[in-house]
Amino acid sequence: MRTLITNAEQIFTVDTKGKNFKRGKQHSELHSICDSAIVIENGSVKDIITNITAAKMDSDVRIDARNCIVLPGLIECHTHAAYSGTRANEFLMRLKGASYEEIAQSGGGITSTMKAVRHSSFEELTKLLEPRISHFIEQGVTTLEIKSGYGLSFYDEIKQLQVINHFRTHSPIEIIPTFLGAHTYPPEFKNDHKGYLNMIINEMLPYIIKNKLAEHLDVFCELTAFTSEETDLIFNKAKKLGYQLRLHSEQFNNVGGIDVALKHKALSVDHLEVLKEEDIPKFAKSETVGVILPGASFFLDCPFAPARKLIDNNGIVALSTDYNPGSSHIPNILLIMQIAALKMKMSIEEIISAVTINAAKALGINDKTGSIEIGKQADFAIFEAKDISEIIYNIGININRFTMKKGETVFKRN
Ligand code: NIG
Ligand code: FE
Repeated sequence: MRTLITNAEQIFTVDTKGKNFKRGKQHSELHSICDSAIVIENGSVKDIITNITAAKMDSDVRIDARNCIVLPGLIECHTHAAYSGTRANEFLMRLKGASYEEIAQSGGGITSTMKAVRHSSFEELTKLLEPRISHFIEQGVTTLEIKSGYGLSFYDEIKQLQVINHFRTHSPIEIIPTFLGAHTYPPEFKNDHKGYLNMIINEMLPYIIKNKLAEHLDVFCELTAFTSEETDLIFNKAKKLGYQLRLHSEQFNNVGGIDVALKHKALSVDHLEVLKEEDIPKFAKSETVGVILPGASFFLDCPFAPARKLIDNNGIVALSTDYNPGSSHIPNILLIMQIAALKMKMSIEEIISAVTINAAKALGINDKTGSIEIGKQADFAIFEAKDISEIIYNIGININRFTMKKGETVFKRN
């Protein structure tokens, strides 16, 4: 089976010369090629040839990308999309001056979504998640990470992971489940943190990896959630069991999460809104990706993470929506890219690297996707545009025309 993508205005390969991530100034190097076509065989990129050669080549499917630009499929590396209920009431409370942390401390926040998820069946959660996944696919997303973390009991965390796993076989794109049982302490363990930690470490972690429900583990290291010592305990056990580690850290307070994540060589540290100046250079010496979530800053009206400084100091930066009902009710990766340009002064080139190859690195899948290189998966977002600037200029407009996963068209706008 051979598919050709021909006649694109430009192809942005985000080539890394085999390194599979971009650091510092490399974020700006997208490698654009003109007058070229992509040859896809067996779901992978077989070759990049001239349009003239492609015109004479046999193929089973031919995609005419005239007036379009071709990018690697977008990688959405951080979402909490498998939720039920609404937090619109909390949004209104915040508009009147209450803070996210105050709402969390008074029993709302993550706990309020936990209650909704505990009351929802597998079928109800599945029904809610399906259109959310489609919405990402329509924007050019070819890999989507979804965390648990709203069950916060053995039964309900497993239920949430089963819902996410359902879409590994019932979605045309790759879905990556992440276990976030350590999102916050559930009310029944409010005065027994040790009890909940033990349950995570001795029951949930072994069960989940044994049953292949998740291979990624995340923790929320924060004053209202888990301490750095507790994070360290969870990471130690998770690493022994073979999990890949990620961390929510420095969202509201600095409680030592960064050093624990870097010590364990976590795939990523996410949020970083209050990252301290002296911690920025640490990223230059590590391969841990700083995942920036400007949707949370925008939605909570909080400071933006120092993405510019992280890049200027030779760090590796990815971007994501953090889509969830409480802190970033924004399922729109294109809007996130636009906010990154406007509010964090990232260039369009840096932004594209951040939602492709570096987001793939934050998930540990950068050897197979995230850039258009021979041998990699044929995952593409094909935007109706003559120039990449149109991606950030068209605020709130989805200019994605085709989404392709492993060489198959999984979304087409007519
Ligand atoms: O990444 N910060 C922790 N977790 C989520 C918010 C979850 C929620 O408020 O429901 C986040 O922002
Ligand atoms: Fe998050």
